[in-house]
Amino acid sequence: MSKYRTHYCGDLRITDNGQKVKLCGWVENWRDHGGIVFIDLRDLTGITQIVFNPEISQEVHKIAHKLRAEFVIAIEGEVSPRPEGTVNPKLPTGEIEVIVKKVEILSPAKTPPFIIEDRIEVSENLRLKYRYLDLRRPKMQKNIVIRHKTAQIVRNFLNENNFLEIETPFLTKSTPEGARDYLVPSRVNPGKFYALPQSPQLFKQILMISGFDRYYQIVRCFRDEDLRADRQPEFTQIDMEMSFVDREDVMNITENLIKKIFTEIKGLEFNENFPVITYSEAIDKYGLDAPDIRFDLHLVNLTDIFQNTSFKVFANAVKNKGIIKAIKVKDGAKFSRKDLDDLTEFVKIYGAKGMAWIKILENEWQSPIVKFFSDDEKQKLQERLNLEPGDLVVFGADSSKIVNESLGHLRKELAKRLNLINENEFKFVWVIDFPLLEWDEEEKRYVALHHPFTSPLDEDIELLETSPDKVRSKAYDIVLNGIELGGGSIRIHRKDIQEKVFNALGLEEKDAKEKFGFLLEAFEYGAPPHGGLAIGFDRLLMFLTDSENIRDVIPFPKTQKATCLMTGAPSEVDKKQLKELNIKITL
Ligand code: AMO
Ligand code: AMP
Repeated sequence: MSKYRTHYCGDLRITDNGQKVKLCGWVENWRDHGGIVFIDLRDLTGITQIVFNPEISQEVHKIAHKLRAEFVIAIEGEVSPRPEGTVNPKLPTGEIEVIVKKVEILSPAKTPPFIIEDRIEVSENLRLKYRYLDLRRPKMQKNIVIRHKTAQIVRNFLNENNFLEIETPFLTKSTPEGARDYLVPSRVNPGKFYALPQSPQLFKQILMISGFDRYYQIVRCFRDEDLRADRQPEFTQIDMEMSFVDREDVMNITENLIKKIFTEIKGLEFNENFPVITYSEAIDKYGLDAPDIRFDLHLVNLTDIFQNTSFKVFANAVKNKGIIKAIKVKDGAKFSRKDLDDLTEFVKIYGAKGMAWIKILENEWQSPIVKFFSDDEKQKLQERLNLEPGDLVVFGADSSKIVNESLGHLRKELAKRLNLINENEFKFVWVIDFPLLEWDEEEKRYVALHHPFTSPLDEDIELLETSPDKVRSKAYDIVLNGIELGGGSIRIHRKDIQEKVFNALGLEEKDAKEKFGFLLEAFEYGAPPHGGLAIGFDRLLMFLTDSENIRDVIPFPKTQKATCLMTGAPSEVDKKQLKELNIKITL
C-alpha cells in the first residue's frame, strides 16, 4: 500500500493468519499483562491489537515501554489468532492480533487534554479548542466520512438528472434571505463592502436566465444570526434551481434525492410519497409550520364554544379577536401539580400568559377553571374532544400567534415527556401554500416570508392589492421530524407581477433597483419560468448521523458566540491592515 503499511488498522481478519504485515497509526490503550505489552493501534478505519512480547524481541519490547497515548508509530509483524478467551466479538479485527517484530516511533505526542474515545465527558469548549484531537474520535470520524459519502450521493444523483454544478461568488452583494450580512471591506474601493452570500439565490436565478436549465451547488452560506443547536453562522446548502418547471417538478426531484440519501446511508425503505399539507393546515393542527407528525396530540380550536364564556381569560381572548385552542393529552391526568406548573412555565417562553388545564377523572373534572364553565360549554367540550377518564386537556387563549406557537411547542414537549417519540422514525412532510407576505410589527409593513422573488399562487394574484395578507405563495418546505430541512419556491419571472409584489412590500422602485437592479434588468432579457430549493446539508447530516448538535457534523464549527476556539477567530487585526482598509475602530 505504501512504505508505511500493507493494511489499514480495520482490515485484518482471521483469514489473514500468518501474514506478515505493516501497520501504522496512533497508540491507544496501553496495557502491560505479565510483562507483555498490548496496544490498540488506531487509524481512520478502526483498531488492531498489537502485541510486544519480550520473548520475541527484547529491543522491540523496550520501545513498547516508551510508547504513550497518541504516539504515531509504524510496526511490522505477523498476524496471529488471539488466544482462546481473549477474542473480542465487538471488534471487526477482534479475532486476531499482530505480534510486533519491528517498531518505529514516527512522532511522539504530549499527553492529550482528553482521552480519544467516543464516551467523552469533557466540556465542548475543550473539544473545540483541540478540534484535531476531537476529530480523531471514531464517532467524529464516522460523521465526517458520512458527510463525504452524502455529498457524493447528491452529486451523482443530480448529475444523472442533468444538473450542472456551477460555482457562484462569495464576495458579492447582499442577498435577500432576511438575516444579517457578514461584510468584507474592499481595500481597492475605499468605504465599500462586499457581503458574503446568505445563499446563492440571485446568482442561481441569473443562471436560469442564462439558459443553464438545471443548476446545483453544495455551497457555503453565511448568515449573521442568533445561533441555536441547529444553526451555524456559516453552513452548507445543497442548492438547486430548475427552468421550465412547476412546484411539483421541484418537489419530485427533491423527494427522490432525499429518499436516495436515506436509503443509501440509513437503509430506509420508502413505499409512499411524502405527505403534503398546506401551511394553514399545519398551523391549525400542529401550531407550527414545521410539524412533527410522528405523534398526534393535535391542536383543537374551541373559540366558537367559548364566545360568551364567563371565564375571564377566555372571554378576554375572544374580545381581543384572539383564539382558544386545546390539546387533549391521553394519560395526561397522571401529571402531578408540579408537572403542570412546569408546563405552564414552559409555555411562557413562547409568550403565553398561562396554561389552563382540566384533568378528566372517573367521577369529576379536576381543574381550577371548570367552575367558570356553563353546562353547555362543558357538554360541547366533551363532544368536541371526546374526553375519557385519564385524559388531560390543556388550553391556550391569546392572539392566534401566541396560542399556536406556545401550544405547538408544548405539543412536542408533551410528546417527549410521555415517550411518544420513536427516535428511529423518519417522518417527512411537505408544507405548501405559505403566505407570501407577513406583517412586520417593527417596520410597520409587509415583508416577504420567503424572499421577494417568490411567486404568488396564480389564483391569489388579484388579492395582492386588496388583501396582501391573504395571498398564498408557490413556496414549499420539506420538514423532517419537526425540523425544517429545506425550502424553496417557484420564482416570479414576469415583470408586472414582480412590480405588484414590490408594491405590496412597500418597496419603492428606486430601492428595489438599488438592491437587486441587476436581477430585475436580467429579467427583461427573456427569463424562463423557474424555481428551486435548498436543503440544509448540515441539518440533513444531523439526521443521517444521529447527532443532536450541528457542530458534530461540521469539521470546524463555530461556538454559540460565532467564535472558532481552535484558531481564535474572530481576532483583532494589525493597525496597518485597518489603515489600508480605511477602517477606524470606535470601541
Ligand atoms: P432557506 O433560507 O430556507 O432558503 O435555507 C435553506 C435551508 O438551509 C438551512 N439553514 C441553515 N442551516 C444551518 N445554519 C443556518 N444558520 C441555516 N439557515 C438555513 C435550513 C433551511 O431549510 N435561497 C433559499 C432557497 C431557495 O429558495 O431555493 C434559501 O436559502 O435547513
Ligand atoms: P388566572 O385567572 O390568571 O388565575 O388563571 C386561571 C388559569 O388559567 C391558570 O391555570 C392559568 O395558568 C390559566 N391561564 C391564564 N392565562 C391564560 C391564557 N392566556 N391561556 C390559557 N390559560 C391561561
